[in-house]
Amino acid sequence: MSPMASTPPNLKRIVCLPGDCIGPEVMAVSRRVLEEIAPELELELHSFGASAIRATGDPLPAETLEACRSADAVLKAPIGDPEFDAADVRPEQGIFRLRAELDVYANLRPARQGAVDLLIARELVGGLYFGVRGVREDGTVFDTCEYHPSQVERIARRAFELARSRRGRLTSVDKANVLETSRLWRRVIREVAADYPDVEVEDMLVDNAAMQLASAPEQFDVIVTENMFGDILSDLAAAMTGGLGLAPSASLGDSRPGIFEPVHGSAPDIAGRGIANPAGMLRSTALMLEHGLERPAEASAVEDAVDVALREAPTPDIGGRATTAEFADRVLAALVP
Ligand code: IPM
Ligand code: MG
Repeated sequence: MSPMASTPPNLKRIVCLPGDCIGPEVMAVSRRVLEEIAPELELELHSFGASAIRATGDPLPAETLEACRSADAVLKAPIGDPEFDAADVRPEQGIFRLRAELDVYANLRPARQGAVDLLIARELVGGLYFGVRGVREDGTVFDTCEYHPSQVERIARRAFELARSRRGRLTSVDKANVLETSRLWRRVIREVAADYPDVEVEDMLVDNAAMQLASAPEQFDVIVTENMFGDILSDLAAAMTGGLGLAPSASLGDSRPGIFEPVHGSAPDIAGRGIANPAGMLRSTALMLEHGLERPAEASAVEDAVDVALREAPTPDIGGRATTAEFADRVLAALVP
């Protein structure tokens, strides 16, 4: 009997977006795991990304967006296909729209290994990635970075809460020696800090933060930062803690469903070969169980089972020889002893 059998049934709808390239391969593993440990969850598959562009011309078809809006959580595999690299309509536009539509402003990216146990809280729906962009008559191309104080305040509050629930340390990363948006960022962090006297907070410039992450990552507890800095630093944090294939993320708003997705991309180079590492996808599934469905027991069971499989059935990206299916079998065996 599974250790989770005493949990009362919890009827919830999960929208699964299998995405592109290795996406469906790793999503299949998550679905196997969910069907095992939470069979009463309703798992729906919807089209998203490159496959949705091929089918409908839109990476985020209206039907998929509606399903996501009314779901209890969105479980998303990576999207993207080199076929669309130079196209006007690209898979990535779908993920930006979905994040904005669900207003999931807080992107949590934990990174743990050995003495390193940090959590990046990346602002996800503002800044350079959502600014006005365009081309001037003389051929100059521009992207703009904007933040409203309220956008900074809500991610700051979330980060202080997270720091309070962990080791009580918060590092706010910016480029306040150059950027106006960073000076605003720093000011708002300081204002919000007044409400969290129990949290020790420091400011760090982003270039220094990259060096510190690469040389002494164990000093960090929670890192809060704007959209682009968080995008870059979270890949670095993942590389410092076992690699991109292992890194999960949870994107949360205030009331609408969260999006749970691995940090890595769709890895077209290994698609279809059955060797993708499903650990990032499974850890994202654990974050969904914890933050999206309030099922911490199942979440930690999945975390533990993934750790077992990483030790005993590693995939080629982390120096092993196991296939995706063998990794999945090992996870399932650890979940249901
Ligand atoms: C991530 C990814 C995305 C991002 C891409 C695919 C648009 O790199 O989730 O970190 O930049 O947010
Ligand atoms: Mg990224």
